[in-house]
Amino acid sequence: MALSKRIINLETESAFAILAKANKLASEGKDIINLGIGQPDFPTPKNIQEAAIKAIKDGYHGYTPSNGILILREAISEMIYSDHKANISPENILITPGGKPTIFFCSLIFGGEGNEIIYPDPGFPIYRSMINFSGAKAVPLKLKEEDNFEINLDELESLITKKTSLIIINNPNNPTGSFMNKEKIDKLVKLLEKYSHCYILSDEIYSKIIFEENLMPSLLKYSSIKERLIILEGWSKTFCMTGWRLGWSVWPNKIIEYANKLCVNDHSCPSSISQYAGLEAIRGPQDEVNNIVKEFQKRKNFVHENLNKLKNISCFEPGGAFYAFPNISSKGMKGNDFSEIALNEKGVALVPGTSFGDSANDFIRISYANSLENLEKALYRISSI
Ligand SMILES: Cc1ncc(COP(=O)(O)O)c(C=O)c1O
Repeated sequence: MALSKRIINLETESAFAILAKANKLASEGKDIINLGIGQPDFPTPKNIQEAAIKAIKDGYHGYTPSNGILILREAISEMIYSDHKANISPENILITPGGKPTIFFCSLIFGGEGNEIIYPDPGFPIYRSMINFSGAKAVPLKLKEEDNFEINLDELESLITKKTSLIIINNPNNPTGSFMNKEKIDKLVKLLEKYSHCYILSDEIYSKIIFEENLMPSLLKYSSIKERLIILEGWSKTFCMTGWRLGWSVWPNKIIEYANKLCVNDHSCPSSISQYAGLEAIRGPQDEVNNIVKEFQKRKNFVHENLNKLKNISCFEPGGAFYAFPNISSKGMKGNDFSEIALNEKGVALVPGTSFGDSANDFIRISYANSLENLEKALYRISSI
C-alpha cells in the first residue's frame, strides 16, 4: 500500500511527547515538576463551567452552523470593536475547535507547490509542519536574541518574493515570550502594505496575556491590510480552556467561503457546549482573567530574575504569554541535552529550543504556568546542571 507522500512531511509538537513522558515518570512515583506544556495551570473559571452545564441541560446537544452560533460570533465582533475599534462582521468570523485549525486551513488555502510561506523561527512548531505538509516552501524568519526575539524588518523584507503567499506573525510569541509593541507593529504594517500580494496570518492567541499594562497592538487595528489579514485567536490560553477545544478566527471577504467549507469538510462544527461556555467567557465578568494575568506577571518577574542569577544562564525579559526562553550556551551543552538531564535526573520537564526551530539550539523553553513554589523548586533543581 502506498501512503500519501505528504504525510511523510508531517512533524509533531514535542511538548505533547514531553508531557506524556513527564506523566509516565510521575505515575511511576517520580517527583516531577512540569514546566513543559503551554497551558495555564488554573481551572476554567466557575461561571464558564456553569454555562456549559446549563447548555447541556438546556438541550444544546446537536450540530450548530459550521461557522459557529451567530450569538457567539456577534459577541466576538463586539469584543473586537471594544478592544480595537475595528468593525468586523460576524460573517467574517469562524469558530473552530481550538486555534490550531486556523493554521491548518491557512496552509491548505495558501500552501501547495510553487508557494512560499514565511514563518517565525523559533516559533510554534505547527507552522512549519503544516507548511511542509501543504507542499509549499517553508521560509524561516529568524527571531534573534539580540533583537529581543522581535521581527527584524530588514530580514523579513529580504525573504519576501513573488511566490510569497502568506506571512505568519505571532505576537506575543511562543516560545520566547517576546512582545512587539505598537511602535514596532506600526513599522511592520508599513512594510506589509508594500507587498499587496501577500496574505498575513497574525496568531494573537496570547493577546490578553501581556505585562506592564501594555495594550495589544492587534493587526485588526490596521484597515490598510484588512482584505488580506487572517487572525488566529481563541479561548485556550486566556480563559484556561485548552481542553474545551474552542478558537475563533477572522477572515477576509475573498477567503471566508473557502475557510468555512474546510470547517464543514473537517469537523462539521465546533462543540455546541463549548460554544455556550465561550459565550459566557466573553460576555461574563473578566475579573478572574485579570487576576490570572497579574499572577503570570508575578511569576514572570520571579523566573526572569532568578534565571539570570543562575551560573551560565541568561534570559531576556518576556513581555507576554507565559514562557521564558533562557540561553544556556555557556553551559557547554545544547538545549536537547539540558532538557534530557533536567527531566531524567532533576525531575523538571522543559522543552528544548530546537522543538521550535533550527535556530534555537542554545535555548530551552520554560512554561511558568506553575505555582511560584514549584517554580522556585524547579530553578533550584536545574541550578546544579
Ligand atoms: C502560538 C500558538 N498558536 C496556536 C496555538 C493553538 O492553540 P489551541 O490549543 O487553541 O489549538 C498555540 C498553543 O499552544 C500556540 O502557542
